[in-house]
Amino acid sequence: AGAAGRGLAFAPIAPVPAAVDSFVVPTGYSWNPIIRWGDPLFAATDRFDPEHQSAALQARQFGYNNDYLDIIESKGPKGRSGILVTNHEYTNEGIMFSPALTAVEADEQRRVAMMAHGMSVVALERKHAGQPWTYRVGDPLNRRITASTPFTVTGPAAGSALLKTSADPTGRTVLGTLGNCAGGTTPWGTVLSGEENFNGYFRTNGTSTADARYGLANRPTGRLWEQIDDRFDATVAGNENEPNRFGWIVEIDPEAPNEPPVKHTALGRFKHEGANVIVGKTGHVAAYMGDDERFDYLYKFVSFDRFDKKKGPKARTHNKSLLTRGSLYVARFTGNSPEREITGTGQLPADGLFDGTGQWVALVIDGVCQVPGFSTDDALVNTRLVADAVGATKMDRCEDVEPSPVTGKIYVACTNNTDRGALGQEGATEPNPRVANRDGHIVEITETGSDATSVTFDWNLLLVCGDPATNTSTYFAGFPSEKVSPISCPDNVAFDVQGNLWISTDGAPNTIGYCDGLFKVPLTGPERGRVQQFLSVPREAETCGPVIRSEQSMVYVAVQHPGERGSWAAQSSRFPDYVPLGAPVPAGAWTGPRPSVVQVWKV
Ligand code: FEO
Ligand code: CA
Ligand code: CA
Ligand code: CA
Repeated sequence: AGAAGRGLAFAPIAPVPAAVDSFVVPTGYSWNPIIRWGDPLFAATDRFDPEHQSAALQARQFGYNNDYLDIIESKGPKGRSGILVTNHEYTNEGIMFSPALTAVEADEQRRVAMMAHGMSVVALERKHAGQPWTYRVGDPLNRRITASTPFTVTGPAAGSALLKTSADPTGRTVLGTLGNCAGGTTPWGTVLSGEENFNGYFRTNGTSTADARYGLANRPTGRLWEQIDDRFDATVAGNENEPNRFGWIVEIDPEAPNEPPVKHTALGRFKHEGANVIVGKTGHVAAYMGDDERFDYLYKFVSFDRFDKKKGPKARTHNKSLLTRGSLYVARFTGNSPEREITGTGQLPADGLFDGTGQWVALVIDGVCQVPGFSTDDALVNTRLVADAVGATKMDRCEDVEPSPVTGKIYVACTNNTDRGALGQEGATEPNPRVANRDGHIVEITETGSDATSVTFDWNLLLVCGDPATNTSTYFAGFPSEKVSPISCPDNVAFDVQGNLWISTDGAPNTIGYCDGLFKVPLTGPERGRVQQFLSVPREAETCGPVIRSEQSMVYVAVQHPGERGSWAAQSSRFPDYVPLGAPVPAGAWTGPRPSVVQVWKV
């Protein structure tokens, strides 16, 4: 027991077959959406009506495809107010809009999609801690950040020639944020968000090494935004560097609604999944970050300055500068078992563990590039090329990377990599031990001396995921596999106050045939490795965000892309309104799917 209590008690749910369009929670729990795509933030009259959507309305409504989520509870009496912060990663135009009949209509749909991207900040209220929240329309903290919100660039590459465009000759102000995937709330109360698949929004000349490495090409983009705003067409003179202004970690202060959000060049540019910060023993902070691409890398940033743990505006202002100056490292893993024992099947080596040691290899130290042949601007803007040069370890798509607030150990969700071992590609290694890795795995890292600023570490695999009923290559930290919930494609991670790891998944329908879900895994004691499913999301949705408030018996998730294989005419999910077929549709509701933030509470 102890101060944190025994935590959230639940009997694991049975896995839910992939075609089921239900949100499923354990017996004794209830759920509802706090806020859905299209819900008004600033005035109740901005009501959602998908038949008559406009860019102006969407900019005043909750965006699409919520991913990172936090619920920041105010210190006020009895936890009755809070702030919800979420990312809106991308849009699914085919299910959001009826097919455009004219070019004018098609262009307006593109503008709506731009306004459905970005982030939302939404004030919450409730009667008591542990009770469900409602959101406050028109609260002064409510905020939308979209594809056109001005961001200030910080760090050593701010103002660099690589960031200048004809519209911004200073290279210090960028319009918008795109592909915002996971993120993290900092110890000083701001929110970080990773710009992930930014390459899909730009047409470029596609001729440079960097373009090739970042997946930028000279072909029309899927959304064709370049037809209505030429900054998305980097083949146009003066726009060449516009794609360089995306792919960053951004930081927003949810308590400062009028302050411009920032993009931090000190943390490097890649397909940033997210970033999670911990204050180290020395007071310097470390940010852990994954580059979510097959065979890409794991990174760490360490601040030059120290965290100020005092309260008040002066400390907050200081702490908000911590990510502007410091050192950037990339991970190199070494296995301790002979290579011949890593067979690619997931079978454990003779020492009984996938484990070893590792090194954080410096790319930049306090604003100075450490890799011969590259400038600091190269290292920060084209980080992948510099990390390639130092022989970083190719990983199976690092998604969320998060240090445990209880132990400081770091957990890396490697979601999958079906190309491992394919013709011309790297085969199995001890940290990525399966070829054609469909189900993914979780790496556990211990910094040397439990010091977040350390440049060496030990590691082992906590989980090798899959459905143990049908897959002989799964591993659950030694826990009997017949007693766990099947799990595949780990994506986001979170911790409860007891220090248990929670994992949400993206992709399980295609690998193990079940809907994606949220899972709890104890990390210590006899239950270490016992994966237990807490909830399941509707058909074709991904489970994102998770926020675990076990002390209040509450859990929050962002349900992303429900029914994403449907179309406007044939929607494949009815989440979360579930309006009965043939019944009148209540005002502000819809019969099609709406990405939503959901709260789960104990009844
Ligand atoms: Fe947007 Fe790597 O998931
Ligand atoms: Ca080993
Ligand atoms: Ca993700
Ligand atoms: Ca994902």
